[in-house]
Amino acid sequence: MRDKWDSIDEHRLRPESLMMGYAYKPEWSEGSMKSPVFQTSTFAFPSAEAGKHFFALAYGLEELEEGEEPGLVYSRMNNPDLEILEDRLTLWDRAEAALVFNSGMAAITNAFLSHVRPGEVILHSGPLYGGTDHLVQHTLPELGILTVEFGPGEQRADIAERLAAQAPGAPLRMVYLETPANPTNDLIDIEMCVEIARAHATGERDPIVAVDNTFLGPIWQSPLDHGADLVIYSLTKFVGGHSDLIAGAAVGSKDVIDPMLATRTFTGSQASPWTGWLLMRSLETLKLRMQRQRETAEKIANYLAQHPRVRSVRYLGLLSADDPQHEVYRRQCLGPGSMISFEIDGGEAEAFRFLNALRLVHLAVSLGGTESLAEHPATTTHAGVGEEHRQQLGITQGLVRMSVGVEHPDDLLYDLEQALKAV
Ligand SMILES: Cc1ncc(COP(=O)(O)O)c(C=O)c1O
Repeated sequence: MRDKWDSIDEHRLRPESLMMGYAYKPEWSEGSMKSPVFQTSTFAFPSAEAGKHFFALAYGLEELEEGEEPGLVYSRMNNPDLEILEDRLTLWDRAEAALVFNSGMAAITNAFLSHVRPGEVILHSGPLYGGTDHLVQHTLPELGILTVEFGPGEQRADIAERLAAQAPGAPLRMVYLETPANPTNDLIDIEMCVEIARAHATGERDPIVAVDNTFLGPIWQSPLDHGADLVIYSLTKFVGGHSDLIAGAAVGSKDVIDPMLATRTFTGSQASPWTGWLLMRSLETLKLRMQRQRETAEKIANYLAQHPRVRSVRYLGLLSADDPQHEVYRRQCLGPGSMISFEIDGGEAEAFRFLNALRLVHLAVSLGGTESLAEHPATTTHAGVGEEHRQQLGITQGLVRMSVGVEHPDDLLYDLEQALKAV
């Protein structure tokens, strides 16, 4: 069997070696080396009996037999491009199961809808990506789901006290973290959050720990290794990597992913076959891209840190040994990644002058692509976060977020140098 073949003799192959062929057999498609795009909405049943069995499985009326693979039915339920991609996504995080969605926000929404009910609580870190922040501050409370925020550096006892004060008596169902946080690069201690969740376990629908791993994953951080139950990705970013698609993923144990598959089927938030195919192509170069982006980001962060017009730089590679975040970084992260936030000396006007002067780095939201991007969080991605809350979270008017691409580092440094002159 070549489909789930992941070792040679006793030699275990690494994910980057498996991304070109894992979970696909050329004989399925006339020997085609690469999986075709299965651009179809529906699949022909071999018999009426088989159709009946597939639907009984989809509605949970029958269970899969030992070793049985669910058949193909309809592309809202499953599609070969998504199934192969999902198998490949499990490899990086060493997870049992993965699901692909039509956006990162769809993956996050699905996690909340599948695991939390009205009257229950989500404890979440802040800051969060602006879209997620809106969801937890506005949409979920309207549905009767309680949300309680804690910040980086807060200790377990303080968080427990806040939870008890803000949601007295309500059952905790999820601890949701974004680490590093968008846009400040703040780290949240995953293991501490796992302890909080375990302390609230009752043996019945125990709280799960979900981590948005978009900024560092899957190369520079593996939350499941630190006890998390669910890993969320905006695949739009590093995994897609070319700023040409929108998609998301959830990765974790079967127990956590199975209810999400049911929600995805009935809410219809699956990715398209073409998006799945593009993501498989992107996965082949994921590690190469993320390594190169990290190397260049280290050079840029060092350059910015000594520039007189830059007040401060938030880059994981620059954390000093006496910073409490350094200890979390050392335990939790495998590398500093390529997201840099820095504060221009001044406010919005100075930040805008810098952004408008950039020539090679593009002025756009999003991140993780081959091209370098810069944006002003306070007026774009995090414009929906209230002014006072933004200040508390460190999203100041002078803050610029940069996603470092794969251009030549010297060209990027030249562009930054000339744009900083405009400040
Ligand atoms: C950390 C993080 N999570 C989730 C999302 C949402 O992803 P998408 O735009 O794919 O829905 C984003 C988008 O910027 C993000 O930065």
